[in-house]
Amino acid sequence: MRLLIISIIFCVFAIVIRGDDPYRFLTWNVTYGFIYPLGVRQQAILINGQFPGPDIYSVTNDNIIINVHNNLPEPFLLSWNGVQQRKNSFEDGVYGTTCPIPPGKNFTYIMQMKDQIGSFYYFPSLAFQKAAGGFGGIRILSRPRIPVPFPAPDGDFTVLIGDWYKANHKILETILEQGKMLKFPDGILINGLGSNGAWFTVKPGKTYRLRISNVGLRNSLNFRIQGHMMKLVEVEGTHTVQTTISSLDVHVGQSYSVLVTADQPPQDYYIAVSTRFTTQVLTTTGVLHYTNSRKPVSGPPPPGPTTDIQWSLNQARSVRTNLTASGPRPNPQGSYHYGQIKVTRTIKLVNLPGILNGKQRYAVNGVSFVPADTPLKLADYFNISGVFRPGSIPDYPPRGRGIHLDTSVMQADYRAFVEIVFENHENIMQNWHLDGYSFFVVGMDGGSWTPSSRRQYNLIDAISRSTTQVYPKSWTAVYVALDNVGMWNLRSEYWARQFLGQQFYLRVYTPVQSVRDEYPIPRNALLCGRAKGRSRSL
Ligand SMILES: *[C@@H]1O[C@H](CO)[C@@H](O)[C@H](O)[C@H]1NC(C)=O
Ligand SMILES: *[C@@H]1O[C@H](CO)[C@@H](O)[C@H](O)[C@H]1NC(C)=O
Ligand SMILES: *[C@@H]1O[C@H](CO)[C@@H](O)[C@H](O)[C@H]1NC(C)=O
Ligand SMILES: *[C@@H]1O[C@H](CO)[C@@H](O)[C@H](O)[C@H]1NC(C)=O
Repeated sequence: MRLLIISIIFCVFAIVIRGDDPYRFLTWNVTYGFIYPLGVRQQAILINGQFPGPDIYSVTNDNIIINVHNNLPEPFLLSWNGVQQRKNSFEDGVYGTTCPIPPGKNFTYIMQMKDQIGSFYYFPSLAFQKAAGGFGGIRILSRPRIPVPFPAPDGDFTVLIGDWYKANHKILETILEQGKMLKFPDGILINGLGSNGAWFTVKPGKTYRLRISNVGLRNSLNFRIQGHMMKLVEVEGTHTVQTTISSLDVHVGQSYSVLVTADQPPQDYYIAVSTRFTTQVLTTTGVLHYTNSRKPVSGPPPPGPTTDIQWSLNQARSVRTNLTASGPRPNPQGSYHYGQIKVTRTIKLVNLPGILNGKQRYAVNGVSFVPADTPLKLADYFNISGVFRPGSIPDYPPRGRGIHLDTSVMQADYRAFVEIVFENHENIMQNWHLDGYSFFVVGMDGGSWTPSSRRQYNLIDAISRSTTQVYPKSWTAVYVALDNVGMWNLRSEYWARQFLGQQFYLRVYTPVQSVRDEYPIPRNALLCGRAKGRSRSL
């Protein structure tokens, strides 16, 4: 009888967690290998021998099981940018939620692409490993019968763009640990390749989807194709009002889908990617190759915008949600009226640099994040005190410019509806990403934010995404419904700054513990730090 009850409970559990949704099993072998994207030999993180790593193909609600074998001589962890890991921050793969995979060991991520559709990417989250590769695209396709607001494209390309250093990531890490700044990157890669290395072959008259993600370390990039217009259709899981553009700003950490039709005379065309808002402009090119091409790429690559901010701000504001298009579920994207929900809390985040113990650090609201000896989510789960204190970062920037070190965790109530204002007092671009969520980008403008800035919010068709830019000396405001219990990283996507403290964790908390709101710790979870040796059994 007892056994029966247990097995019934287990079945209910299994259904709660996995449903009847399909499973996809992947086995990944992470190793070091050598690459030559900028003409010099350098060490990179390969996944199954590939740089960039393999794309993850999935359909909304698929269960993705990835057994990651770490064959690096150092700990490793992957995170899934934009994948919400609903009720399941244990699988988020940042050091605040998940123990690193020790060298020579493996860990199986068990995650569900729950109620999501669109373009995302994964990357190594520990130390400065992101500067060595280990990233790849993630696409979540629509379920059958849920229409996508454009005809199925004839091809679908992942386009990972990012700035790149020739130096080894360990050297970059050492420079940062010494409290020094990194120099400007050496180049830009497209799908891991340097100048004219990346080729995208198209058939005349056909239309292709390009899923463009900026997987780089600091620079906003402009993307354009010689002689071709692009139709913007999706941003980090939201179908947009389709607009035709000749070039697109992709800020660090962001993902966009555009449609491109091969409607020009049959030859090869440059794909140009260049840095934005920098005095020194880096540019690289790839090739759009027509199958019936009669001519190689020629002429100068198409020029793009360089330091102009207003152009970029206007483009950002023009990106809107198509309210009548369906998202991951059959109901239209506009059926959730975020503009009519009462905001229960306003948080204002100001990033500031500072010097601590003679070293360069970065802070949010005066606190420069330092990792604890134990993943925060595990400390939370096992009730291990002394690892972090909820409330160790204030909702508003304190007076004064002083900064201090702490393992900053902000507490928030499950189901609160929160306004977050990012204010950038510096003269550089900022990019912020929130794990576990997408938020509505309701407004952005120059200067300081004041309550009257709310009058210009877009409360109708703002885009819902997980990474937003904040222009120099400007602010960006977002609304987020905190409907995903867990421990979630809120971070700068400017990777050196993230590394030097410009991040914290948002602990979305409910006193009622129920598998309806949050799944229990995975049975295979690695345990480290002060969680080592604890029992995972319920
Ligand atoms: C991973 O790759 C390395 C190097 O090619 C190889 O020695 C090792 O056996 C592979 N491991 C797995 C689990 O495939
Ligand atoms: C490691 O891989 C083996 C199979 O190769 C698997 O049985 C085991 O569950 C994996 N370990 C973890 C922690 O996921
Ligand atoms: C919005 O989506 C609808 C429904 O799929 C589609 O018919 C329409 O063309 C889209 N409108 C724009 C402007 O993208
Ligand atoms: C942690 O504490 C809570 C509240 O006191 C309790 O419900 C829960 O079972 C504890 N968890 C563990 C793993 O001991």
